Amino acid sequence: MNIAIIGCGGVGKALLELLERQHTLLAEENLYINVKYIIGRGDDISPALTDADLDTAVILTPTNKDNGQPGLDYARAFLAAGKHVVTADKGIIIHGYTELRDLAETKGVKLALGCTTGGALPSINAGIFDMAGSSIISIEGILNGTTNYILDEMESTGCEYAEALNKAQQAGIAEANPSLDVEGWDTAGKLLILTKVLMDENVSLDDVKVEGITRLTAADIRMAAETGCRYKLVGRTAFDETGNLILSVNPEQIPADHLLYSVSGKNKSVRYVSDTLGELVIMGGASGTTPAAASVLRDLVNLHRNRI
Ligand SMILES: NC(=O)c1ccc[n+]([C@@H]2O[C@H](COP(=O)([O-])OP(=O)(O)OC[C@H]3O[C@@H](n4cnc5c(N)ncnc54)[C@H](OP(=O)(O)O)[C@@H]3O)[C@@H](O)[C@H]2O)c1
Repeated sequence: MNIAIIGCGGVGKALLELLERQHTLLAEENLYINVKYIIGRGDDISPALTDADLDTAVILTPTNKDNGQPGLDYARAFLAAGKHVVTADKGIIIHGYTELRDLAETKGVKLALGCTTGGALPSINAGIFDMAGSSIISIEGILNGTTNYILDEMESTGCEYAEALNKAQQAGIAEANPSLDVEGWDTAGKLLILTKVLMDENVSLDDVKVEGITRLTAADIRMAAETGCRYKLVGRTAFDETGNLILSVNPEQIPADHLLYSVSGKNKSVRYVSDTLGELVIMGGASGTTPAAASVLRDLVNLHRNRI
């Protein structure tokens, strides 16, 4: 399989390492992944677009929640040229999912997005494959490991939000500018993608009511603990009593008997309720650039196996 990597930062470099590390395992199923192009900012993409031997574009550009660029135009161009697209860039899917899905179908190629909703957590692919033939009626999840780590830290040490954030930054868990995570937008983006793809709902980020964790105090966390609850940043899509679809991201007090209560540290989890398969909870998966790259590789392997 010949691939082009577009945007080769943290995840892209981890993918290059992983392709070497997993070479023998991949060779066992006759999968030899050759990185034919690495495309960065300002590079000409026409040689890759017109290369008949190029199979797949792996788009790892930065997520832009406002308009999906630059990744969205790359995805359009490579799908239009008849190349499969595998991406980790949430902005592309938030802003272009329906258009790109239809374009991929017209061109007879695939759009793989397993890394966009929690990296190693098999949230979207499990929803697509393992819940086929049923309707998902609600989605609930802890979809951001950074905020979960901060809330865990506040609970276990009794410290204030700023101190827990600082510790997460020192540990390389939170970014220098953590606003997308702590203000809830990363969770909102992932929830939106799950809702669009798995529930086939035409929704946008404007439809998500978003509140992050920045206003929570040590006293809030302590009071929740006194009533046997834990604060978690929960993304939820569900229908209200009048049948309206409601998407929200909020810090919520989760009781001890709830399945999301035990999601600790950087872990993530998603819970689906379906009309025929009941309730399914997926939990865990490592965080960081290598596990994210591993989830991109997972999509490449499943493309090779014709399972996407
Ligand atoms: N890191 C994770 O753990 C993780 C997990 C899941 C999903 N993701 C998603 O995966 C994507 C990549 O993440 P990352 O951590 O690798 O980000 P990153 O380190 O910021 O890498 C992004 C790369 O894209 C390049 N780039 C920027 N604009 C470009 C353009 N117009 N054309 C081509 N390349 C361009 C950047 O180059 P410059 O250096 O020139 O800016 C950089 O090399 C993001 O969308 C992120 O949300 C990341």
